[in-house]
Formats: sequence, structure tokens, C-alpha cells
Amino acid sequence: MEVANRIVAEILEGVKEKVQAGIETRELDELAEEMCRQRRVKPAFKGYRGYPRSICVSVNEEVVHGIPGPRRLKAGDVVSLDFGVKYEGFYGDAAITVGVGDVGEKARALIAATEESLYAGIAQVKAGQRLSDISHAVQTVVEGAGYGVIREFVGHGIGRSLHEDPQIPNFGPPGRGPALQVGMTFAIEPMTSMGSWKVRILQDGWTAITQDGSCAAHFEHSVALTENGVLILSRL
Ligand code: MF3
Ligand code: CO
Repeated sequence: MEVANRIVAEILEGVKEKVQAGIETRELDELAEEMCRQRRVKPAFKGYRGYPRSICVSVNEEVVHGIPGPRRLKAGDVVSLDFGVKYEGFYGDAAITVGVGDVGEKARALIAATEESLYAGIAQVKAGQRLSDISHAVQTVVEGAGYGVIREFVGHGIGRSLHEDPQIPNFGPPGRGPALQVGMTFAIEPMTSMGSWKVRILQDGWTAITQDGSCAAHFEHSVALTENGVLILSRL
């Protein structure tokens, strides 16, 4: 999983560099596929429940699962990139949100708070904590900054499958759910919006957008609880 997730991080880094005004989102997908071929790994999302591409590119009010296509990015767009691979039977999964050129103060603050909430969640991954301590830590940071935290999508266990139990909501009271133990591996993934947390799915059957059209952000890391504490697998 360390290798799988390092490769995910490398590919996200490569794709992030190409996030510029004028590029079509399908070109980002092509780059992710090419980088998978070079590294001899399988993109984890392509074909997953019929998802047609290798990466998810979600722009502005799109929260998650945006399908790459002919859409051209423009200055000011807020772009979430979500990507996973399978390597020797194990999965890696991570997401980042980046701006195209200058996105302005408000979008920068949303992006920063969302990433901060991810790290607050990760900081709860310690032996003795309970699963919902992660959820509560994420929610506290996001709502404390004045944003909405999406409720209809969750983080998850990860390992020999992309999505394993348990589900990890990004909200809820602390101290609930299973006790965290050494050897557990999770994908923690806060999704946020500038307004309401309510989402709806577009006609394509995948793209989740905020109901109020407000701008969204998404960060995700795969992490492992080791004897020496939490290890962030999908960070370079
Ligand atoms: N990274 C997302 C997740 O953890 C996306 C997977 S959905 C897919 O659930 F269909 F696009 F693969
Ligand atoms: Co995930």
C-alpha cells in the first residue's frame, strides 16, 4: 500500500502541474493513464461500478466524481482531482484541490480549511481513539471555518479493495464506532462547500454538485495506523 499510494501521489503531482487555463479535463485523464502505463499500475477508478475514466476532475460547484471530457479549464476555476491505483493487489487513493491561476481569497480559504480538516482527521488516527473521532475532528475544522461539510459521501477503509469497511463520515459526535488499532488502513476524505452541504447528481449519473451551486473542495489521503503512529501513505 505504501508503493501504491506513493504512485498515486506522484501521478496526482504530475496532473496538478498540468492544471492550467486552456487545458481540457480529458487531457488530465490521458496524462494519468500514461503515467499508470509507465509505472505498470492499474487505474483503480476506470470501470469501477461503470465509472468511465481513470481520474475524477470536479470543477467549482462539482464536489466529486466529475468525469473528464472536452471541458476547458479557465482562470479562477477550483479543480478537485481524485485518483487511485491498484498495485500488486493493493489500492491507493488520494485527492487534492487546486486553483487555476488566481482563484481569489474566498476560494483559497475554502481550499485551505478543507486540507486542514483532513490533517485534523488524520491526527485522530491513534490507537485508543474511536472511528468517529476522525469524523468529529473534520467537522469541527470545516464548520468552525464557516463551511458546509458534505454528508452523502464518506471516507472508507482501503486495502485489497478500493472501498472497505468502515465508512468514515466527515461529521458526527466523537467517541463512537470501532476502536482504532495498529494495522488498520483508511482513506480519509473531507468534501466541503462554501454554502450548503446538500448535493445532487447530474444526468451523467456520477457528477455530484452542490444543490446551491456553491464552490466545493475535496482532499483525501490514504493512511495506515502503525506501531509508530499514523503514516500518511499518499504523501510524497
Ligand atoms: N476516490 C473516490 C472514493 O474514494 C472515488 C472513487 S469512485 C470512482 O470513493 F468510481 F470514481 F472510482
Ligand atoms: Co476514497
